[in-house]
Amino acid sequence: MQKRITVSDFSKSKRENRKISMLTAYDYPTAKILDQAGVDSILVGDSLGMVVLGYEDTTRVTMEDMLHHIKAVVRGTERALVVGDMPFLSYHLGKYESVRNAGRLLNEGGCKAVKLEGGEEVLEDVKAIISAGIPVMGHLGYTPQSVNRFGGHKAQGKDLETAKRLLRDALLLQKAGVFGIVLECVPYRVAEYISHRLDVPTIGIGSGAGCDGQVLVTSDMLGLFKDFMPRHVKKYMDMGSSMEEAVKLYISEVQEGIFPTEKNSFKVEDEVLIQLKAASDL
Ligand code: KIV
Repeated sequence: MQKRITVSDFSKSKRENRKISMLTAYDYPTAKILDQAGVDSILVGDSLGMVVLGYEDTTRVTMEDMLHHIKAVVRGTERALVVGDMPFLSYHLGKYESVRNAGRLLNEGGCKAVKLEGGEEVLEDVKAIISAGIPVMGHLGYTPQSVNRFGGHKAQGKDLETAKRLLRDALLLQKAGVFGIVLECVPYRVAEYISHRLDVPTIGIGSGAGCDGQVLVTSDMLGLFKDFMPRHVKKYMDMGSSMEEAVKLYISEVQEGIFPTEKNSFKVEDEVLIQLKAASDL
């Protein structure tokens, strides 16, 4: 059994200048592959809504959806730190509800930390969750749960005012005790400067190499999700096309009687078959 990575390893990585690798997963087999490949952390992101459940954005994802997928991912991991995303409105209805929901992700789901979106506006919830002993990861910049407020998928922190707000929010979250902050679609020089100002690590997505670690949506980097491809994604393979080719081959082999062969089937003794054909006591 491997030693599981903890939130303290995140700060240690930053101190030792070692970049943190994080990827998303939503199911047991994918989590197992990522874990065995050695990724530091697995995020069960609410990107689940788009890349697995086929919703248009993350606002339809529920606590029950998150719990269902966090449980599967936790079963597939031994080493990676599993972080569960708090879904839309699960931390906006008062501190009691926020702590209760974060607690459910650990207690029922089995993840070791939660992530939530926002800065100053969610600070009291962040503090309350951390006071309950639950590690929290922040998420600033483009925050997908606010897609309807942003009016689309847009980089954040391009002008002085919004860049200052990002830095202020990051410092407030750090003071509240978060163990890391995802920076999504922040101009790379702003992200690099924020990372430099913080003691806790930043995990970038579309925010450049100056962050202390990187996260990608696994379905995007493997080419499995084709509805849209954000500009910041690097596609490491085209799994969607390989799957399509394999499925086409299967269909033609079934139609032509090439599959299954004897190798894919079970044998029976001749005598059983003779007696089956002769049986009249059905
Ligand atoms: O839900 C998610 O996958 C995320 C990442 C994009 C950081 O929040």
